[in-house]
Amino acid sequence: MASTPPFSLLFFSLSLLLHQPVFSTANLHSLRPEFLPQQLRQTTPQNDTPPTGYFEVTKPINLPKTTTPCSHLVLAHDFAFTYGKPPVLAPYDPPSHCPSRKFSKIVLEWRATCRGRQFDRIFGVWLGGVELLRSCTAEPRSTGIFWSVKKDVTRYSSLLLKKNQTLAVYLGNLVDSTYTGVYHVNLTFHFYPFEEKSKAFDGVEDNIPADLILPISRNLPLNDGLWFEIENSTDLSLKEVKIPQNAYRAVLEVYVSFHENDEFWYSNVINEYIDANNLTNTPGNGPFREVVVSLDGELVGAIWPFTVIYTGGVNPLLWRPITGIGSFNLPSYDIEITPFLGRVLDGKSHEISFNVTNALNVWYVDANLHLWLDEKSLRTEGEVLKHVSLPLVVSLVSNFTGLNGTFLTSISRSVKSAGWVKSSYGNITTGFTQDFYFSNSMVMGNNGDMQIVDQSIYFNDSVDANLPHSSQVHSLRSQKKFSFYMYSNVFDQGNESSLYITNVTLGLHEKKFKGSSRLGFATSNLENLQRCQGNMVVKKNLVVSGLGSTQQVYKYNGDDLCYLRNISSSNYTILYDHGGSQCRKKAESHFGFGFHKLWPFHARRVSLASGLLENSKRD
Ligand SMILES: *[C@@H]1O[C@H](CO)[C@@H](O)[C@H](O)[C@H]1NC(C)=O
Ligand SMILES: *[C@@H]1O[C@H](CO)[C@@H](O)[C@H](O)[C@H]1NC(C)=O
Ligand SMILES: *[C@@H]1O[C@H](CO)[C@@H](O)[C@H](O)[C@H]1NC(C)=O
Ligand SMILES: *[C@@H]1O[C@H](CO)[C@@H](O)[C@H](O)[C@H]1NC(C)=O
Ligand SMILES: *[C@@H]1O[C@H](CO)[C@@H](O)[C@H](O)[C@H]1NC(C)=O
Ligand SMILES: *[C@@H]1O[C@H](CO)[C@@H](O)[C@H](O)[C@H]1NC(C)=O
Ligand SMILES: *[C@@H]1O[C@H](CO)[C@@H](O)[C@H](O)[C@H]1NC(C)=O
Ligand SMILES: *[C@@H]1O[C@H](CO)[C@@H](O)[C@H](O)[C@H]1NC(C)=O
Ligand SMILES: *[C@@H]1O[C@H](CO)[C@@H](O)[C@H](O)[C@H]1NC(C)=O
Ligand SMILES: *[C@@H]1O[C@H](CO)[C@@H](O)[C@H](O)[C@H]1NC(C)=O
Ligand SMILES: *[C@@H]1O[C@H](CO)[C@@H](O)[C@H](O)[C@H]1NC(C)=O
Ligand SMILES: *[C@@H]1O[C@H](CO)[C@@H](O)[C@H](O)[C@H]1NC(C)=O
Repeated sequence: MASTPPFSLLFFSLSLLLHQPVFSTANLHSLRPEFLPQQLRQTTPQNDTPPTGYFEVTKPINLPKTTTPCSHLVLAHDFAFTYGKPPVLAPYDPPSHCPSRKFSKIVLEWRATCRGRQFDRIFGVWLGGVELLRSCTAEPRSTGIFWSVKKDVTRYSSLLLKKNQTLAVYLGNLVDSTYTGVYHVNLTFHFYPFEEKSKAFDGVEDNIPADLILPISRNLPLNDGLWFEIENSTDLSLKEVKIPQNAYRAVLEVYVSFHENDEFWYSNVINEYIDANNLTNTPGNGPFREVVVSLDGELVGAIWPFTVIYTGGVNPLLWRPITGIGSFNLPSYDIEITPFLGRVLDGKSHEISFNVTNALNVWYVDANLHLWLDEKSLRTEGEVLKHVSLPLVVSLVSNFTGLNGTFLTSISRSVKSAGWVKSSYGNITTGFTQDFYFSNSMVMGNNGDMQIVDQSIYFNDSVDANLPHSSQVHSLRSQKKFSFYMYSNVFDQGNESSLYITNVTLGLHEKKFKGSSRLGFATSNLENLQRCQGNMVVKKNLVVSGLGSTQQVYKYNGDDLCYLRNISSSNYTILYDHGGSQCRKKAESHFGFGFHKLWPFHARRVSLASGLLENSKRD
C-alpha cells in the first residue's frame, strides 16, 4: 500500500515533549503514535510484587577510600503536572556541617521512584544556570519502579562551593486519569572531604576544575527548561558573555538532546523520498545532524552527538531494567576555546551561539563555559594564530523506487585552531583539532515498513599545549566511535493490530590519552556495546504483547580503574550479570596523585576554595 506511511513515521517513542503549552491532554498523542506497554494497563497493582530497579550500566565513580561524604539533600520533590510550569527551584548553599572545607570529590545523586503509567521525560538540573545533569526518566510499571543516577560533578567544584545560589530542575510531566505516574525525586550532593592520603587518582579523567563557570543557558524565570530550543537549521540560539580579562584557559561544555521529529534523527529519510512518495508527517532532512558552536558568528567547534535512545524509544520493552547507553546521564561535549581567548579578553560582550545542521524540531541545547583565571595577574593577553574550518564534505547516494530503496550518506569535517595566551604561567600556544567522519547506510523495504540503519560516527579531537622555552608539548587526545544499528519491520496482523520486530545495537568506543613525552602519559579505553531484540503487537496505541531482550558488555581499562561487566536481561529479568567489580589494573600508575602536573596550566596552582589542587606540585 503506497499510502502506508513508512516505518520511520510509525517509529514510536514514548517520549512526550510537546513544544506548545498544553491546555488539554486530548490531542497529546497526535504528533506520533505512541504506545504503552501492556504491563502498564493493569489497573490493580499486585502489591506483593516488589518495585523494579532500573539502571544504566556504567563504571563506578572513583571515590576516596578513607573518607565518608558529607551528604546534602538539596531537593525533595514530587513531579506531577509540571509540564509548561516554571522549573522547580531550591535554595542552594554548600554544606555547613562538614568538618572540612576542602573536597576531593563531589557526587550528584538523583534518586527517584514512580508507580503507574507514564512516558519517559527529559529533564535537566541547573545550579546558577549552569547545567549539571541532562537525563531521562525511566518508565514506570503498575507495581512501581525506582532508579538512581550518580554523576561525578567535581568539575563544577568552584560553583558548588559558592553560597546563596538557586538550583533548578525542569522535568515536564503530565498527569491525568490515564498517565498516572508521578515522579518522586530526591536530589543529593555528596561531598568527599579531602585527605592527603586518600586522594583518588583519576588518571586521564583528572582535570583541575575551572575557577569560574559561566552559564550559556536561558535565564529564569521560564516555563520550561533553561536549555535553548532549536527548531530548524536556520534557528540560531545565542547568549552574550563577558569573559574575565585574566582568563588563561576556556572550555565550552555543551549539552544536547533531540526530540519529537528529530528524536531518531539517524533514521530520518531524505526529503526527495518524502516528496516522491507524497508522504506527510514523516520526519525528513536525512540522517545527518551536527551542532555547530560559534563565537562572534565564527564556527569554533562542532558536535556530532551520540545516538542516545530514551527509555521509551524504539521499543520500550528493550530498556527494562537495563536502559540505553547515555539515557540516564546524557553525555556533554567539550570544545576548547583557549585558542580564541585573545579575541575575547577585551572586557566586552561576546556572543556564543548554537545552530543545528538539518535540525527538525526540536533540539535542547545549552552550555557551560569553564574558565581558568590567572590569580597572579589582572590581565592576560593572547592572539589567534590559525583557524581553519572547511565546509562539510557531503556524499549522498540514493536509489529508490516507490517506498523501497537504499541511501548512503557519508560526511566529514575538520576544524583546527591555534592561539597563544600569555599569563603568569608564560606564553603558551594551544592547538585544538576536531576530525569527524560520518557514515549512514539506510535500506527501506517492505514498501516502507522495513528499515535497516547502520551508522557510525568517528570523532578524533586533540588539545596540544606548547610550553614556553621548551620543546614540551602536553596533549589531551581522544578517539571516539559511536555506532548504531537498527533493523525494524512491521507486519499487519489484521484487526487493527501490527507486529513490530526490532533489533538495535548501540556502541560507544572511546580511547583517551593525556600527557607529554617528558612526563609520561595516562590512557584509558572504553568499549560499551548493547545488543537488543524486541517484538511487540500493537493495537491502537497499546502494546498488547511483547518481549524485549538486551545484552551488554562494558569494558573500561584505564590507569585509574579497570571495570568489566557482562550483563543480560529479558522480559524485565536479569539473565546473567558477570563482573561488575573492579578487575585487575593492567598496570599500576607511576604518576600517582602528582599527575596534575601533566597539564601545564595547572602545574603551579593552589586554590583556597578547594583542596583539589593542594597536592599539585610546582613544576
Ligand atoms: C527521599 O528522602 C526521604 C527522606 O529521607 C525518604 O523518605 C524518601 O523515601 C526518599 N525518596 C526517594 C525517591 O528516594
Ligand atoms: C542571596 O542572593 C540574593 C539574590 O541574589 C540576594 O538578594 C541576597 O541578599 C543574598 N543573600 C545573602 C545572605 O548573601
Ligand atoms: C525556524 O525556527 C524559527 C524559530 O521557531 C522560526 O522563527 C523560523 O521561521 C523557522 N524557519 C523556518 C524556515 O521554518
Ligand atoms: C503524488 O502526488 C502527485 C500529485 O497529486 C501525483 O501525481 C503522484 O502520482 C503522487 N505520487 C504517489 C507516489 O502517490
Ligand atoms: C551555523 O552557523 C555557522 C557559523 O556561525 C554557519 O557557518 C552555518 O551556515 C550555520 N548553519 C546553518 C544551517 O545556517
Ligand atoms: C537501483 O535499485 C534497483 C532495484 O533494486 C536496481 O535494479 C538498480 O540496479 C539500482 N541502481 C543502481 C544505480 O544501483
Ligand atoms: C607568544 O608566542 C607566540 C608564538 O610563539 C608569539 O607569536 C607571540 O608574539 C608571543 N607573545 C608574546 C607576548 O610574547
Ligand atoms: C582518528 O585517528 C585514527 C588513528 O590515528 C585514524 O586511523 C582515524 O582515521 C582518525 N579518524 C578521523 C575521523 O580522523
Ligand atoms: C518493495 O519491496 C518489497 C519486498 O521488500 C516488495 O514486495 C515490493 O513489491 C517492493 N515494492 C516496489 C514498489 O518495488
Ligand atoms: C479483533 O479485535 C476485537 C476487539 O479487540 C476482538 O473482539 C476480536 O476477537 C479480534 N479478532 C481477531 C480475529 O483477533
Ligand atoms: C535480530 O536479532 C536476532 C537475535 O539476535 C537474530 O537472530 C536476527 O538475525 C536479527 N535480525 C536482524 C535482521 O538483524
Ligand atoms: C514475561 O514474564 C511474565 C511473568 O513475569 C510472563 O507471564 C510472560 O509470559 C513472559 N513473557 C514472555 C514472552 O516470555
